[in-house]
Amino acid sequence: MMNLNKRNQSHIEVNLNPFYQKDIISIKDFDRSDLDHLFSVTNGFARSRNKRVGEILQGKILGMMFFEPSTRTRLSFEAAMASLGGISLGFADPNVSATEKGENLSDTVRTMEQYADALILRHPMEGAARLAAEISEIPVINGGSGSEEHPTQAMLDLYTILREKKRIDNLRIAVVGDLKYGRTIYSLLYALSKYSPRIHLVSPPPLRIRSEAMLEVGSMMKVSEHESLDEVISDLDVIYVTRIQKERFPDLQEYEKVRGSYRVNKKILESGKEGLIIMHPFPRADEIPREVDSTDYQRYFLQIKYGKLIRSVLLGLVLVKNFKIRNS
Ligand code: NCD
Repeated sequence: MMNLNKRNQSHIEVNLNPFYQKDIISIKDFDRSDLDHLFSVTNGFARSRNKRVGEILQGKILGMMFFEPSTRTRLSFEAAMASLGGISLGFADPNVSATEKGENLSDTVRTMEQYADALILRHPMEGAARLAAEISEIPVINGGSGSEEHPTQAMLDLYTILREKKRIDNLRIAVVGDLKYGRTIYSLLYALSKYSPRIHLVSPPPLRIRSEAMLEVGSMMKVSEHESLDEVISDLDVIYVTRIQKERFPDLQEYEKVRGSYRVNKKILESGKEGLIIMHPFPRADEIPREVDSTDYQRYFLQIKYGKLIRSVLLGLVLVKNFKIRNS
């Protein structure tokens, strides 16, 4: 039953759109050719002058279920839906949904699917997105599940790297920060492992990557672990920094021990090589000071811009079987 989508469960057919009616739960569910397809359609979409773009998702509804705070993920999906002529509805805060009255996730999903063509779920619990996808008869997109994964963030991250560096293979990439709890990191590393970059993981020891993921990504690409960015800075093409995920620490005393333990400032970046770029999924705390915003290294605002672009194309591919971009 592997590659079957939610609309065509009874017969197998060749579908050139690998995202049509698919759940987007883990980046691991997609292979390199699927991601390359997404990126090439996105390039076409970015260049398109088609005046009918605003009709592509006319009549389509995206159901949003956000059980955790979000700015970029939620609003970029909403903006994407609006720009393609669709609409989005749902809740940005579980306190205003029936969850507050004790409704379980299953009933919320079964309700929302009556109103929508696809759903997005952000939830603090690992496995919540997979569970919602099993319950739902319409596609479910994982907008972040606990410290597990955030697949659409990885899509926009890889797309940004590709646009800026023209390749991923053989790039030298440092992933810096909270590698234990950061879900964006897991999706990013699983996605990068479909290519062949050289990865340096940089974190304070208590925030090292979880061991099972290290085994998994370490078997697919070259990965090394470091405590300080100084050890690798001169080798890098890309630095990807993340926030310490305070809300995921079981013990706040543990958080206090690592708070403020890394900061990627202008001075550190200046010891990098020509063309070095710095990325961050946002929100940031104090790990990148604002002095970096106006430098040539900075690409985190470009990531935000590409987030809307890639999510527009992803929604188009999930909801429209023959989603194609023409310049007419
Ligand atoms: C991230 C998240 O929610 O996982 N935000 C995002 O969607 N870009 C990162 C974070 O909260 O640190």
